[in-house]
Amino acid sequence: MAATKSVLESANERTSLLDGRATLMMGSNNYLGLANHPRVVEAASLALRAYGAGTCMNPPLATTRVNEELRFAIAELHGSEDALLFTSCTSANVALLDTVITAGGVIFSDALNHASIIDGCRLSRGTSVRYSHADVEDLNKLVQTHNSRDRALIVSDGVFSMEGTAAALPELLAASKQAGALLAIDDSHSAGVVGPSGRGTAELHGSLGQVDFITGTFSKALGGAGGGYICTSRAWREQLVGSARMAIFSAPLQPAAAAAALAAVRLLQEDSGLVQKLASNARYFRASLRALSFEAPDLPSAIVPFFVGGSDNAESMSTALLARGIYIPAISFPVVGRGQARLRIQLSAFHTTADLDFAVEAIASEAKRIGLHDEPADASAVDA
Ligand SMILES: Cc1ncc(COP(=O)(O)O)c(C=O)c1O
Repeated sequence: MAATKSVLESANERTSLLDGRATLMMGSNNYLGLANHPRVVEAASLALRAYGAGTCMNPPLATTRVNEELRFAIAELHGSEDALLFTSCTSANVALLDTVITAGGVIFSDALNHASIIDGCRLSRGTSVRYSHADVEDLNKLVQTHNSRDRALIVSDGVFSMEGTAAALPELLAASKQAGALLAIDDSHSAGVVGPSGRGTAELHGSLGQVDFITGTFSKALGGAGGGYICTSRAWREQLVGSARMAIFSAPLQPAAAAAALAAVRLLQEDSGLVQKLASNARYFRASLRALSFEAPDLPSAIVPFFVGGSDNAESMSTALLARGIYIPAISFPVVGRGQARLRIQLSAFHTTADLDFAVEAIASEAKRIGLHDEPADASAVDA
């Protein structure tokens, strides 16, 4: 991880005030730039005035109108029947895995799933089995060897947060069907990002309505104010409401955060322009890196890892890029494996082509400084 923590003194936007300096933001989850969209900010401040800082109620006993509206809006976005809101996706993942898989059941979890899924596996009383990252053949083999008569569930990130890779949903759906297992996809980095109108992994693969559980966060593309959710069937929602400890014993999502998320979801439903801009920025950025012979496969996500080997290289490049006015964090052990340190670039709809060109040039120049290869390929290969 980055050795030092940067201090943000403005909204998280294209040019953010970071450590007292105007800096091009290329390391944030504000994928669509909605965290400071006027409608999102206005909705949050209206809800703050209407409901106060919080409801001080227990979630199973009472909720607010805005939380209820968000519940149905997020379910609709993901093509699910219903949804259950939490204060974070971490709580949602733990609630899901702890509740749906009980003693005797099995969870099959991708080796690179997010930490909150790993925590959910640890808390579940079922057995958890890790399959190799994105390796459905390995998953199928493990399903055969852990043939449980109790419930089984396959769980995968939709977009993997440190790799930018996307889950092979059609193969996972086939595997779950064959095994008689449930399927859960964590769309934290996919909602608002992947699929033609940002409806996530299921929309990307034309499979809306086919995934048993979709979890996600409102702390990234969907407004940034925080909160999490499980989208599922009405029947599963009832079971979760009645038995998920995180849904019963933890505080509800703050109404102002719910209002911000609702405004963001509505903006997304009205117009997919920002989603398309983000996708085109991601394509252009990756193509620009490839034109300089760097590895940047065309993936349907807004996360681009730039592998640099050791953590010293990552720190050195991140620090130098910051000095040039670009914020791109270094990620190293223990967040990723030893020797797999990287810069983690996150693209946003707010970036201009000039921003992307500026960043690619700066990255290439710093990579050259630390001795990573920089053979130019065919620069004309870049296209949006
Ligand atoms: C894939 C994934 N799941 C869950 C989370 C946790 O979300 P939250 O901050 O809402 O707990 C994250 C956050 O980084 C994530 O990347």
